[in-house]
Parts: sequence; structure tokens; C-alpha cells
Amino acid sequence: MKLIPALTLAFACLCLSTLAREPKESDKDVNYDEARLPRYDLPSLLVTSEGKPVTTAEQWFNVRRPQIMSLFGNLVYGVVPEPAEPIRTTFEVISTDREFLNRTGTRKDVRIRFENSRGSDEMLVLVFTPNNAAKPVPAIMKHSFNSTHGRDFDAHPDRPGHFRNGWPIGDFLQRGFGFVAVYQQDLVAHNEVEFLKSIHRLFYREGQSFPKANEWGVLSAVAWGGSRALDYLESDPDIDAKRVAIMGHSKMGKAALWTAAQDQRFALAISAQSGCAGAALWRRKYGETLEKMVTRFPYWLSRNAWKFVNNEDDLPVDQHMLLACIAPRPVYVHSGVEDTWADGRGEYLSAYHAGEVYRLLGKKGLETESSPPVGEAILDSDVGYHIRAGGHSIVPYDWARFLDFAGRHLKAAP
Ligand code: GCU
Repeated sequence: MKLIPALTLAFACLCLSTLAREPKESDKDVNYDEARLPRYDLPSLLVTSEGKPVTTAEQWFNVRRPQIMSLFGNLVYGVVPEPAEPIRTTFEVISTDREFLNRTGTRKDVRIRFENSRGSDEMLVLVFTPNNAAKPVPAIMKHSFNSTHGRDFDAHPDRPGHFRNGWPIGDFLQRGFGFVAVYQQDLVAHNEVEFLKSIHRLFYREGQSFPKANEWGVLSAVAWGGSRALDYLESDPDIDAKRVAIMGHSKMGKAALWTAAQDQRFALAISAQSGCAGAALWRRKYGETLEKMVTRFPYWLSRNAWKFVNNEDDLPVDQHMLLACIAPRPVYVHSGVEDTWADGRGEYLSAYHAGEVYRLLGKKGLETESSPPVGEAILDSDVGYHIRAGGHSIVPYDWARFLDFAGRHLKAAP
């Protein structure tokens, strides 16, 4: 394939790129001005590809939603192909610590192994449950940048109720939630140089060494891993697999939305500052754009997505449709005022426009097109949202709102 040398060059460039959010020389063309937005029309949620109006839940689920999911799969994130050969999957609880966080919780380390004649891969999933809550408990699964293999998920030695990585695990347990960490690099490396060694190779057909143009990129592989972790949770008596939320921040927020859209077993989704290819609308071209994304990270999406660079109007979907595919299950979107690269306004608008489908399904969407005041969370809806002061991170205020929203919908017993 001629493509491979070009991709290898792109890999090399990527080695040099970092996740730094400071504008580079090549980003001087990025638009951060609402007055300079392109004029755009969003594709219709409730009109089929054949031009027929969608007026019932049945038409949504049987006709329009499958059309939209197929477009996202084939043109944006990439579909997971049938493996050439069956994959054997095994679950093994390799350790259990019932004295986690001063005996308030239990930590289970679970190995999930995939194997066929093309190779094998493993995920290490960490499952935390409150000791004093009636089982099974609802849980929040996080697509995590932090590795589950090191010490990031140990109890913090100096900050009671926190992991070493700073997340408030004590609050989760105290509110009756389980917490599940899935490490994104287990199946597909964050460093795209490693992409060719990822889980994809177990799926290749004879002679194949790279995904086809409509096949899965990194985000689809991360989403697939989340679903496999949920397969395990279905066998864990301490977790109610019907009340598991999926969440993620930034790149993992993109993955979380795609996971929830595809796998309807997830009961709720939380997108923290997911931005471009997450909650933000492509067509606004504010902050990060499709061009910026595929130039830096050519494998996050499918190769078909490259065709829409500077051609967003030809995309038959936009990201409000991804959120709509999560309906009627609750979805929460979080933005940061200074996180302009992720386009907080575009994230809000996506969430707002997805409301059309929530309402069709008898649920509550966001009521107004104006973003809410900074620091005011909209929790009383099936589409929740907040934008807070500050930049690209999850701060205690955000964690608390995620738990408030999940608590309302997943009815955790405190
Ligand atoms: C880069 C990338 C974003 C992504 C972010 C992250 O900034 O351009 O799309 O969300 O990394 O994952 O932190």
C-alpha cells in the first residue's frame, strides 16, 4: 500500500507532537472569534436519508438512528470489522483488596485477555465498589489516560479519599457508586507510532496490515475496549451492569460518547471537554478543526474522515447527531471557558440540538439555545450541561456535578 510510507512519515511527525495546548505557528489560522464563524446548516436529525420525516420513536430506532450510526461508523470513527477468526476472551479477577481506602471500599484487578492465532492482547480493568452499600451498585466507568498498571489508582498517601492521580474516589464510594477504570493504551497505544501493533491485528484478514478506509481508528478501539469491560461487569455480582455510566475527558470524552452511542447497554454518558470529534460541532470550525485533528492524529478517526477536511459541509452528520444516538439515555456535557480549543459553545449547541430526539422519545432536552451562565449546572434534564471558569481539566466542581447527574439518573443509594 502506497499509503503506508506517507503514514509512516506522519507517525514520525507525531512522535514530535505533544498534547500541549499552546498555539503553535501552524495554528495561527485557528478561529476563536464567534464573529468569524462560517455559515452552516446542520444535517437534519429527524429526516431520513430518503427525505422522509421521522415522527415516531419507532421510526427513530428502526430507520433514522441506524442510518446515522452507520454514517458515524463508516465515515467518522471507523467500524469494527468481523475478525477473520474468532477471538477467545477470558476474564480473570487477579486480586481483591477488601480494605481499600480504610476498608470503605473493595478494589478488584481484572484481567481481560483476547486471543486468536494472530496474537493476543490484555486489558487490566480496575473495579472499585463501596463496602457498606447494598449490592449490586451502579458504577461510573472511565476511559482513563492514567495507567491501571502502575500506582495511579492507589489510595493517595496524603489526600484522604483520593487516588494518587487526584480523583475523588472517596466521593464515589460514599455516594454509593462503583468506579471502573479502563486504560486506553491497553488495546491501542496513545502514541500512534504503536498503532500498527494494536488490537486491530487480531481482526485482520489474510494479507491485511492496516485498517480499511472505513475501519476503526484509535477512538473506535478504545470504545470497543469499554464494551469488553462492560461484558466483564455483567458477570460481576457487585455491579449492576444495567446502571453503568461511561465517561472520559478530552480524547477519552470523544471515546466515551462513541462508546455510549454504539453500546446501548451503557446507561448514561459523560463527556468532559471532549471538543472536536466529541461534543463540539464540526461545522463551526472554532478551535480545533477536523484538519487540525487528522494532521496531528491521523488514526484517531477512520481514514474516510480525512475526506471531509475543509469540507465539513459535505459530512452527512454533525456531532449533535452522535449525542442524539445516546437518547433516551441521559448524557452530560462539560466545557471550560478557557478551553477554547475544545469549543465550549459548539459543545453546548450539540447538546442543545440533540434535544430534538430526546423530546421525540419523551425525555427532556436543554431548553434554550443560549449557553447557561458560567458555573451553573443544568442537572434537571436528560441532557445535562455545565461550563465553568478555567481550562482543560476535571476539577472538584466537575466531579461533583457528574456525580449529581449520575445520582439523579442511576439512583444510587447513598
Ligand atoms: C489534543 C487534541 C484534542 C484532545 C486533547 C486531549 O489537544 O487536539 O482533540 O482532546 O489533545 O486528549 O487532551
